[in-house]
Amino acid sequence: MVQPGRFNPFRPNNMVNPGMFVGRVDELQAVDRCLFQAKNGNPQHFLVLGERGIGKSSLLYYVELIASGKIKGFNQVGMRFLTVSIDLGNCPTQFDIIRKIARGLKQAAGEHLIAREAAKALWNWLTNWEVLGVKYQKTSTEMDSEEVMEDLVTRLSAFCSETVGHLDGVLFLIDEADRPHSDAGLGALLKFFTERLARKSCNNVIVGMAGLPSVMTRLRESHESSPRLFHTLPLEPLEVSERKQVVEIGLLNAAEKNHVATRATPEALSFIAELSEGYPHFVQQFAYDAFEQDHDDVIDVEDVGIGAYKEGGALSQLGDKYFAEMYHARIGSEDYRRVLNAMAPYGDGWVSRKDIICESGVSETNVTNALGTLKQKNIIIQDESRRGFYRLPTKSFGAWINAIKAAKQKTEGQSGELFLG
Ligand SMILES: Nc1ncnc2c1ncn2[C@@H]1O[C@H](COP(=O)(O)OP(=O)(O)OP(=O)(O)O)[C@@H](O)[C@H]1O
Ligand SMILES: [Mg+2]
Repeated sequence: MVQPGRFNPFRPNNMVNPGMFVGRVDELQAVDRCLFQAKNGNPQHFLVLGERGIGKSSLLYYVELIASGKIKGFNQVGMRFLTVSIDLGNCPTQFDIIRKIARGLKQAAGEHLIAREAAKALWNWLTNWEVLGVKYQKTSTEMDSEEVMEDLVTRLSAFCSETVGHLDGVLFLIDEADRPHSDAGLGALLKFFTERLARKSCNNVIVGMAGLPSVMTRLRESHESSPRLFHTLPLEPLEVSERKQVVEIGLLNAAEKNHVATRATPEALSFIAELSEGYPHFVQQFAYDAFEQDHDDVIDVEDVGIGAYKEGGALSQLGDKYFAEMYHARIGSEDYRRVLNAMAPYGDGWVSRKDIICESGVSETNVTNALGTLKQKNIIIQDESRRGFYRLPTKSFGAWINAIKAAKQKTEGQSGELFLG
């Protein structure tokens, strides 16, 4: 039973706030170096890469707070960057991307106490351009967007000169960079932008981007050498101790707000860590549902298991949010489930048909049929270069299937409506 009025600290549907941000030490140190370099006139751009839900936006948000000086970075030195945060969802053309950048810049400069005055010329130009931008778009050609970009760079570098001594630089944080189609030319645009800035000796402007791993291909398709502009930061699942730390910090937060401490048994912490396989969105979701499930202020293994496995619980939430297509197709047949179960421990690694037959306990003919259908529905991928090898599209899909198995085992014999994995 959910206890009325009890604050649940976990955030399965939202970026994590800085107080609950855990891990990513290497990545933050790398970003710290990029900022330090930019501050000293040697801009180094960075690109955060990772699966859905691995924590890209949360990391960018944390970086934004460090770069703008709202929280301290590693060396405890307060930074003074003007941070411009945008996301590239819904940007079908290069003009849409430029408009997002321009609007983001205008808003960030307008909200910044010191930058506001120096930004006036930039601001006027952006306002005029926005009016013009509508016209531009109607007759948009590549020439036009380069002209606008050139203009933007000129104003931006004038702005940087004027704010020397007041600002360390300008940091553009671009999320969802995988979203624009390669036709939108993000790679070419960034190449042009950074080269023009360098030519104007405007060396304290940097770009930090985040996107799915496919962003590399998109960038390359748009401009062969554009991926080389970036120092890449691939995000991996959290370490076991970090997974537990996420839950512990959450519970401390909850204790402050609820005036009653809820604790988790060491076994429950380990179970959440195991079920999540280190995916931060999984940790948040399992912890959220375990917290909801608990009603004696001690989260135990049973709370975690039932919270995960019950109908509408963590596993079905994750299924709906991240694996919707796969999730609905796979519960259609027992054979599919067994084939996927056999593949899940390999994550996104290749598995041979032979091993699948052996490990699933499904007959050869039925495995062949299941593999054919799963492939057709894009639930699994077939190796083009070798016959009879298949894999899951992402590691986290494998983690989700493994978690269904593990939670099912722990909740066997429980009454009530359970999630039918
Ligand atoms: N470092 C972290 N510490 C604790 N929780 C985290 C951390 N990073 C991410 N999370 C949690 O994981 C979930 C996913 O995070 P986030 O939205 O940042 O991922 P994402 O990679 O941007 O996802 P998407 O690809 O869907 O945009 C959120 O619930 C967030 O609260
Ligand atoms: Mg995100």
